[in-house]
Amino acid sequence: MTDTDTGKTTDTDTTTATPATDPAPADRTPAAPVAFPQDRTCPYHPPAAYAPLRATRPLTRVTLFDGRQAWLVTGHTAARRLLADQRLSSDRSRDGFPVTSARLAGVRGRKAALVGVDDPEHRTQRRMVLPEFTLRRAAALRPHIRRIVGERLDTMIAGGPPADLVSAFALPVPSMVICALLGVPYADHEFFEEQSRRLLRGPLPADTVDARDRLEAYLGELIDRKRREPGDGLLDDLVRRQRNEGRTDREQLVAFAVVLLVAGHETTANMISLGTYTLLTNPGRLAELRAEPGLLPDAVEELMRVLSIADGLLRMAVEDIEVDGQIIRAGEGVVFSTSVINRDESVYPDPDALDWHRPARHHVAFGFGIHQCLGQNLARAELEIALHALFERLPTLRLAAPADEIPFKPGDTVQGMLELPVTW
Ligand code: HEM
Repeated sequence: MTDTDTGKTTDTDTTTATPATDPAPADRTPAAPVAFPQDRTCPYHPPAAYAPLRATRPLTRVTLFDGRQAWLVTGHTAARRLLADQRLSSDRSRDGFPVTSARLAGVRGRKAALVGVDDPEHRTQRRMVLPEFTLRRAAALRPHIRRIVGERLDTMIAGGPPADLVSAFALPVPSMVICALLGVPYADHEFFEEQSRRLLRGPLPADTVDARDRLEAYLGELIDRKRREPGDGLLDDLVRRQRNEGRTDREQLVAFAVVLLVAGHETTANMISLGTYTLLTNPGRLAELRAEPGLLPDAVEELMRVLSIADGLLRMAVEDIEVDGQIIRAGEGVVFSTSVINRDESVYPDPDALDWHRPARHHVAFGFGIHQCLGQNLARAELEIALHALFERLPTLRLAAPADEIPFKPGDTVQGMLELPVTW
């Protein structure tokens, strides 16, 4: 199969002055604005209600929860161009920055490290942590990840069957990995996992604010302890670095810690649970992977594309931007639906099919441009090791409830399974 990506945008492109264009679909008549986000009907397919969005690539209008309208980017080429365009800001404290749920409105003004910061400050922040997240570092962590995966499987197998794969495996593995990397005690996992859950999923708007406060207080105390006695995690390195530079910025350290801890475990946990569900409900694909484990890196990439669990990346235009004859005006909100973008048929023929043999590499499930996921090398390593070990150790693994009765997460948060009853 030939690579169908137009190849016009490279990973090193960070700005663009030229309009972003996608091949024009036959019918470009704009539909009435679709509400965004909506709940999925199948946990690994975009909501059925997004179907009209495929006919309005690369850009369309959507209605957000509060009735405001925003631009929704749906075309693959345009998405990569725009995600690399510094005329789109990630600073959530800007007036008019789009919000996709009532819950998230409460923490809008809070400064989020990295993901909520524009250049040049973003570049400075990213450089501070990048060495811990390189491909080489992820490779060096593989034996440690394998050990954690093996131990979690031992425990799950000893306690079952059946088991809830989310609480027994999918959540603890990335939690333990990020704790070791950051220098956060895993003994506190129930606390920070619960606060991350409330931060991302509420249910009430007040939960989000309270969860954020609690996480900040907890991580602030941890950083104070590290100041007195630094250990050997990434947070300890950041404390040392500030000391060597003769400065003290507790707020910055706490902001880093919150983002890295939350992003470092919730997302990967969702990919492990939803990836497992997807494979168990596509037995032909799973049989192929079992027979040829060498396909796993490509399978992980294709699962990332198809599942697109972070579905709704947020930006605000700070200058007018022309896209395919339409103008995004300064001050307007821009949302990227990764699930729709990653199923752009001009790039991925038969986009709804799960096919490891296609080149899925240019998907935007990890974002693109300066904010492209910092933890992607680590996440890929965790996914490969976790899925490989799970299906190797448990050749008879299967769902312990009807597939369509297993609950999954609502559309306004990172997608994944709420629980995953399995047996073997
Ligand atoms: C499969 C799991 C993961 C998925 C699907 C995922 C997805 C994403 C996406 C889509 C973005 C871009 C956000 C945007 O442009 O607004 C992002 C950014 C980020 N991710 Fe991940 N992520 C995953 C795992 C991780 C892990 C393990 C870490 C470890 C700490 C991590 C840390 C971050 C950070 C710090 C950013 C912000 C980067 C920046 O703004 O420079 N992620 N992630």
